Amino acid sequence: MKPYSAACDRNQEPILEVLKEFITSEDKKLLEVGSGTGQHAVFLAPHFKHLEWYTSDVPENHAGIKEWLDEAKIRNIKGPFTFEVGKDEFPKNEFDIVFTANTFHIMSWKECKTLMKSLGQRLTEGAQVFIYGPFKYQGEFTSQSNAEFDVSLKTRNPLSGIRAFEDVVNAMTKNGFSLTKDVEMPANNRILIFMRIDYIK
Ligand SMILES: C[S@@+](CC[C@H](N)C(=O)[O-])C[C@H]1O[C@@H](n2cnc3c(N)ncnc32)[C@H](O)[C@@H]1O
Repeated sequence: MKPYSAACDRNQEPILEVLKEFITSEDKKLLEVGSGTGQHAVFLAPHFKHLEWYTSDVPENHAGIKEWLDEAKIRNIKGPFTFEVGKDEFPKNEFDIVFTANTFHIMSWKECKTLMKSLGQRLTEGAQVFIYGPFKYQGEFTSQSNAEFDVSLKTRNPLSGIRAFEDVVNAMTKNGFSLTKDVEMPANNRILIFMRIDYIK
């Protein structure tokens, strides 16, 4: 049976509204890191027909993503490609956009930093990064449910956990990005939007 995420059904429309505001007609290639079921790609990609939407995830999730993609038959979706942060090289291509949803609290902080370093090395000036998910601010969770979620994440994997907004912004800044906007989203989530501000080879 096709994998299914109810959360994707709930958050895809609000995510679309934000992406529409920031993705331009000049953007050509988008990499999605941690595509999960593939639902975000299937819902979002048809709204950006000028873009090639590259799905990626660890190999174990590819069969599920393929089921969604085979059924939806959306022309501008590619993949799924294998990209496990911390193990695989950043996919070879020139991406204008990187989108990742609900991955930072799953990956270890070391993997998050590896990803942000790769983004700095591989994205060129003007490229944008969208990081969707829950974050902490000044050491505080934004809701009781996020505090409880953090405990459950750490019970499953001690290296997982809701990340600090300030740590993500600092790491992205160190890697050549500037925070464009921090958008409040439903259910105590955010989208952090960054732009690559220079390119050092
Ligand atoms: C909670 S799911 C989110 C999936 C989807 N983006 C969504 O919002 O429904 C976390 C995803 O991160 C992926 N993931 C975990 N560790 C990863 C890593 N080191 N590199 C790339 N993806 C990873 C998982 O395989 C999974 O698809």
